[in-house]
Amino acid sequence: MEKDHSSLSNFHEVRVTHSAYELDVNLGSKVVEGYAQLDAVAEVDAPHEVVLDTRGLEVRRVELLAAASAHGKAAEGQPQPPQALQWRLADPHAVLGSALHVSLPAGLASGLRKGDRLRLGVRWATSPDSSAIQWLAPEQTAGGQHPYLFTQCQAIHARSLVPCQDSPGAKMSYSAVVRVPTPLTALMSAVPEAAPAGLSAHMDDVQPPYPTAVFAFTQKVPIAPYLVALAVGDLAARDLGARTRVWSEPAMVEAGAHEFAETAKFLEAGEAIAGEYVWGRYDLLLLPPSFPYGGMENPCLTFVTPTLLAGDRSLTNVVAHEIAHSWTGNLVTNASWAHFWLNEGFTVFLERKIVGRLQGEPAFQFHAAQGAVALAAEVERLGAAHPYTCLVPDMAGGVDPDDTFSRIPYEKGFYFLYYLQELVGGAAKFDPFLKDYIAAHQHQTLTSNQFKAYFLDYFKDVPAAQGVDWQTWFYAPGMPPVTNSYDTTLAQQAYDLALKWHTCDVMGIGSDGPAGASAADVAGWSSEQLVAFLDKLGQYRAVQPMHARVTQLLAALYGIYDSKNAEIRFAFFKLAIPARDPQALPHVADMLRTQGRMKFLRPLYRALFTRGGPEGKHLALDTFAAVGSTYHPIAKKMVAADLGLSGGSSSA
Ligand code: BES
Ligand code: ZN
Repeated sequence: MEKDHSSLSNFHEVRVTHSAYELDVNLGSKVVEGYAQLDAVAEVDAPHEVVLDTRGLEVRRVELLAAASAHGKAAEGQPQPPQALQWRLADPHAVLGSALHVSLPAGLASGLRKGDRLRLGVRWATSPDSSAIQWLAPEQTAGGQHPYLFTQCQAIHARSLVPCQDSPGAKMSYSAVVRVPTPLTALMSAVPEAAPAGLSAHMDDVQPPYPTAVFAFTQKVPIAPYLVALAVGDLAARDLGARTRVWSEPAMVEAGAHEFAETAKFLEAGEAIAGEYVWGRYDLLLLPPSFPYGGMENPCLTFVTPTLLAGDRSLTNVVAHEIAHSWTGNLVTNASWAHFWLNEGFTVFLERKIVGRLQGEPAFQFHAAQGAVALAAEVERLGAAHPYTCLVPDMAGGVDPDDTFSRIPYEKGFYFLYYLQELVGGAAKFDPFLKDYIAAHQHQTLTSNQFKAYFLDYFKDVPAAQGVDWQTWFYAPGMPPVTNSYDTTLAQQAYDLALKWHTCDVMGIGSDGPAGASAADVAGWSSEQLVAFLDKLGQYRAVQPMHARVTQLLAALYGIYDSKNAEIRFAFFKLAIPARDPQALPHVADMLRTQGRMKFLRPLYRALFTRGGPEGKHLALDTFAAVGSTYHPIAKKMVAADLGLSGGSSSA
C-alpha cells in the first residue's frame, strides 16, 4: 500500500472501519463535545497501538470497549465494562497535527492476529479555532437571528473535528447522534434517521442548560474521513425530486429551489454515464456566503455557495460537478492527496459529460476549450517549472494540501483524460471504459500508477494506447506534452470579440473600443460565453494591462455591473484591476465583503495587491483588515499568505 504523507495514523496496522459518533454542539462556547466508538480491524499480527490523527482536539479519555478474534472466539482480556487505555498526544506537527497514540494492553496486543477486531471509545472536545469548523454569529446569517456552523474537512481538516485516521485510504462507514440547541437543525453527510431521545451515558458529563433537540444519521457506504460533514443552523427544506431536496436558511430556500431545479436531471444523467447512485439521497445545502468553495461533495448532502444564485441556473454546472463526485472521489477515491487529479480531473470530465448529455456535444466542447484557457492561465500564474503544475505532485515532507491546491489537477487532469479518450477512439470507446473503471474500483482508493495499469490492460489491444508518455504526463511540470483540439463553435464568437477588443486597445491609448462596438455584440449570448470572452481577453492581456477607459466602456456596453452572475463580475474584475479602473474598485470591494469563496477572494486580492497600483494595494489591505475575521479560517489563512501577512503559510 502506498504511503499517505498527509496522515500520521497507522491505518496500515490497525484500521478503523466504522465510527459511531455522539456530538454535543455548543454554539455559545464554539465547542463540539464528542464521543466516538471506533470499530477497527488488525491489518497485521500483534499491533501494539492504534494511532489516530487529531489537531487541536482535547482528548478526555480513551477506553477499550471490546475485542474479538476474527474466528468469533473472544480475544484475551475482553473488558466488561470499558477498560481505560493509556494514550498520549505527540508534539503537534505544524501541518499534520498531533498523533494520538493509544497503547493496547500487552496481553491483548500480543494475541491479536490480522483480521481480529477491536472497539475503542474516545471522549474528546474540539477547540474553538478548529480549522474544520466555521462558527457564524447571527449577523453573518441571512436570518440574523440564530448562530450557524458548518464544517469543511477536505483535505486534512477532519482531524480537527473528530479523532480519525485522516487518510482517504482509511475508508469507514459512520453513524452519528447530534444534540443541538432548539430550534436549530443538524445535517450531516449521511442519511437522516429517527433520533433517540438523547445522548448515551458516555456523554453524561455534558448537560446543556438550554433546551436541545437530537438528530441522527447513518452513512452505510464506507467513506474517506474527509467526507464527514456537519452543519447546524436555522434550516428549512424544499423537495426537488423523490431523492433530492435543497436545504438552507428559510430566507434563501425559494431561491435555492428555483436555481437548483435541474438537480434530479443531473443525477439521472450521472447514473446513465457512471452507473448506479449508491448513496440513497442527494440533497443540497445552500450555505451562508462565507462558505469557502463553490461546492463540496459531502455524501448525501452537497454543500454549495450562495454565489451560484445567478437567478437563471447559469452556474449549476457546479452541482453537476459535485454530483459527479458521487462516483469519482466518493466511490473511487484518490489514495492520497498527491493523486488528487484522480478525484478532480475525473470529476471535471464527468461533469462535462453530464452537461454534454443535457445540452449537447457543442456544450461539452465549449467547456473543454474553456478549461484549456484556464489551464494555460494557471500554468502562467504558477510558472511553467513550478512543481505544483505537475499532475502528480510530490507531497512528501509534510506539505499542506491546502497550499498545493490549484486548478492544475482539475484542468490538466481533464486534459489528460480527453487526450486518452481521443487516443483510444473517442467517446464510443472511452465511455464504457469509464463505467468499468468505476465499477472495478468502487469502495477503494487508487494511485495514478494503478489507473495507468488498469488503462493499459483494458486497452491492451489498441496499439495507440501503448504509446502514452506517462512519465511526462504525471511528473513533468508545465503545459501538457500533447495539444488537444476542441470544437470551438460556441467559443469562437467569444474569442473573436476578445481579439477585437485586444487589438483596438493595444493599438491606441484612449481607444473607444472596437469600431461599432455595442450591446448587440453579446445579445443572445450565454453568460458562459461572456465569461469566455472576458477570460480570453485576460489571456491576451496577461502581461500588459488594458486601459481603464476601455474597461469602463466594456463594462457599460455589456452591462457588467447589472449582472447577477458572480463569474461574469469576477472575470471582468480580473481585467479592471490591472487596468486600474477606478470605477471598478467599489464593486470589487463589495465582492470581497459579501462572500468568502476562495476562487473569487484569492485572485481578486492577489490582483489588487500585485497589479492594482497603490490604490489597489490599499484596498486589499484595508478590506482584509476590515472583513478578514468574517472569512472561513482556511480562506483567511490563504488570503493572508497571498497578501504577505504573517500568520499565513507559503502558498501556491
Ligand atoms: N472537492 C472540491 C472542493 C475542495 C477541493 C475542497 C479541495 C477542499 C479541498 C469540489 O468538488 C470542487 O472542486 N469545487 C469547485 C467546483 C467546480 C465546478 C470545479 C469549486 O469549489 O469551485
Ligand atoms: Zn471537485
